Amino acid sequence: MEMAGLPYIVGNWKMNGTRAMLNEARAIDRAAARFPKVQVAVAPPATLIYRTRDAAAIIGVGGQDCHAEESGAFTGDISAQMLKDAGADFTIVGHSERRTLHGESDADVKAKAEAALGAGLGVILCVGETESQRDAGEAETVVGAQLEGSCPRVDGAPEKLSVAYEPVWAIGTGRVPSVEDVAAMHKAIRAKLVALYGEGGADVRILYGGSVKADNAAELLAVPEVGGALVGGASLSAESFLAIVGAAASLDAD
Ligand code: PGA
Repeated sequence: MEMAGLPYIVGNWKMNGTRAMLNEARAIDRAAARFPKVQVAVAPPATLIYRTRDAAAIIGVGGQDCHAEESGAFTGDISAQMLKDAGADFTIVGHSERRTLHGESDADVKAKAEAALGAGLGVILCVGETESQRDAGEAETVVGAQLEGSCPRVDGAPEKLSVAYEPVWAIGTGRVPSVEDVAAMHKAIRAKLVALYGEGGADVRILYGGSVKADNAAELLAVPEVGGALVGGASLSAESFLAIVGAAASLDAD
């Protein structure tokens, strides 16, 4: 399951999808077989994880969040063990919509990431600055502090950890940072990961997320230290998502 060297293209369906969306999952799965040099995954809403795992043979299937505790009186929440039991391979944690709309702190995100790793799941940990933080020249400081506060403590190398850099102002807006800004941020994230984890930090995949589409994917994925993409809106149809997977595959062929 660990294919650290391959570009990792992950669809985050957010709160979208009923059983009819399984057709998209099947189509993504079938097509993913044509792109063996790309690691493809989707994170459907929790209600569809089991069915997506059942419908798809080769793509990864993940959760969008998990609770830090294994079980208990947490109405409405889902634990990492439950995600695993439903067939998930990984979970996203710390998405900006969770941090903002559900008030999750770095400490919360860290506890969730540690719970997910403890349950045997891969983790995609999201970080990113707001527009006013970028305008104030604070983007790298903010993201560095998020990483310090929310990266899980692990024994040994953090093999199952990926970080997704998602500038909040680029999510769902159609706006993306310049290639230079993405390169600078990913370089800074790499340095922070190496500071936190030592040598193992060099292998953590760093994804870019925020308005990734078919027409900008190749350019973004070609940036040094961009190891894949976390895709929201464009992952909701197999056609638009597979165009991004295709862009990742052709990059590899260059
Ligand atoms: P977007 O979302 O691709 O719709 O901008 C990305 C995300 O929130 O992960």
